[in-house]
Amino acid sequence: MALDRKPAPNDLSAFWMPFTANRQFKKAPRMLVSADRMHYRTDDGRDVLDGTAGLWCCNAGHNRPKIVEAIRQQAGELDYAPAFQMGHPKAFELANALRDMAPEGMEHVFFTNSGSESVETALKIAIAYHRARGEGSRTRLIGRERGYHGVNFGGISVGGIVNNRKVFGSLLTGVDHLPHTHLPKENAFSRGQPEHGAHLADELEDIVALHGAETIAAVIVEPMAGSTGVLLPPKGYLERLREITEKHGILLIFDEVITGFGRLGSSFAAEHFGVLPDLMTTAKGLTNGVIPMGAVLTTAAIHDAFMQGPEHLIELFHGYTYSGNPIASAAGLATLETYREEGLFERAADLAPYWEEALHSLKGTRHVIDIRNMGLIGAVELEPVAGAPTKRAFSAFLKGYEKGIMIRTTGDIIAMSPPLIIEKEHIDQLIGTLKDVLEGLH
Ligand SMILES: Cc1ncc(COP(=O)(O)O)c(C=O)c1O
Repeated sequence: MALDRKPAPNDLSAFWMPFTANRQFKKAPRMLVSADRMHYRTDDGRDVLDGTAGLWCCNAGHNRPKIVEAIRQQAGELDYAPAFQMGHPKAFELANALRDMAPEGMEHVFFTNSGSESVETALKIAIAYHRARGEGSRTRLIGRERGYHGVNFGGISVGGIVNNRKVFGSLLTGVDHLPHTHLPKENAFSRGQPEHGAHLADELEDIVALHGAETIAAVIVEPMAGSTGVLLPPKGYLERLREITEKHGILLIFDEVITGFGRLGSSFAAEHFGVLPDLMTTAKGLTNGVIPMGAVLTTAAIHDAFMQGPEHLIELFHGYTYSGNPIASAAGLATLETYREEGLFERAADLAPYWEEALHSLKGTRHVIDIRNMGLIGAVELEPVAGAPTKRAFSAFLKGYEKGIMIRTTGDIIAMSPPLIIEKEHIDQLIGTLKDVLEGLH
């Protein structure tokens, strides 16, 4: 990587930063100016080890030649094509490649620009699907406490993170929530899927009894809840959810925005856990985070329910100006090729035991009350500072950045999800530095 030092702009006032403590940031900015493979470079010339694959999205690491070249070429060949009533080859190629990578049964792909849009799209398809089949009363959506499904109104309605919901009004009506699956008393320091909690899926039966199955369109869950702080599905939980949804004719949506593209050591969590949903939402790793793009995958049964009536009529009144954008499609194709050529999903699976050992070596470190892991994801939960929740983990994030590692925090949980190209030495550095940071925190 070139030793490029770039001065920070001296006026930071206009950019209202997302999910950021703006005033604090602007007093002490953390500026990234370049990136290569496992590292970011800061504006003061330091290398920072990427322990989070950006925002859970750069699964192949940074500055990957195939992806960079594909974007360059595509920009010069076909920069944009209308997404409605027109096509271009790469969007079809990418849809096919995604279908081929997805668990058997996922047959069709609807392109979006983000995880949030994938969620909105999946929720809308679910409701419209039932209507197309003459079951228009099925409009209710069931999410889960602590779920994160992006930031649009549908997503925050089915989501279950209070700060993302409470100041935004009444949200969607006709939404209910399953309980979350975090049982620290029973499951603390579990490795991989926790033993206890499959029974929490049975709460869906209570929700069905309360509302009537004929009013419920879909249940949406993250197969492994990431943004809320890495909550793993207890053994048997997802299987139970699938059984109950199927029994009542309710669609099951897996939000695979984080778990897709190798994070758990398989292409998707659906494959990893051997549970096939009706719809899957994706984004992030689809283009290695390089260009905004998301996709919703559906079974043939869902897609085909719309393919009725006169052929000149639009079947689904939904889509985005940038659905299947040519440059995003080119980036997606190059990304999937990079994953395949470098065997990155298998690599994640092979490294997972080393990652697990390293993470759990933090047991007994100051402030640590729980550690959870699966694939190349890990979370370290800290005892909150009395009366000041989130402060301790955020201090760990700031200190870690100073010491050359990038981690993420949610509440008092530190989450890590490195690029799948990580080497064992990087894992040692990440965990070793985190240990020093935690031991030094008040
Ligand atoms: C499970 C899940 N769904 C949806 C989203 C939203 O994605 P985006 O930020 O691309 O809108 C995220 C983002 O972290 C996510 O983790």
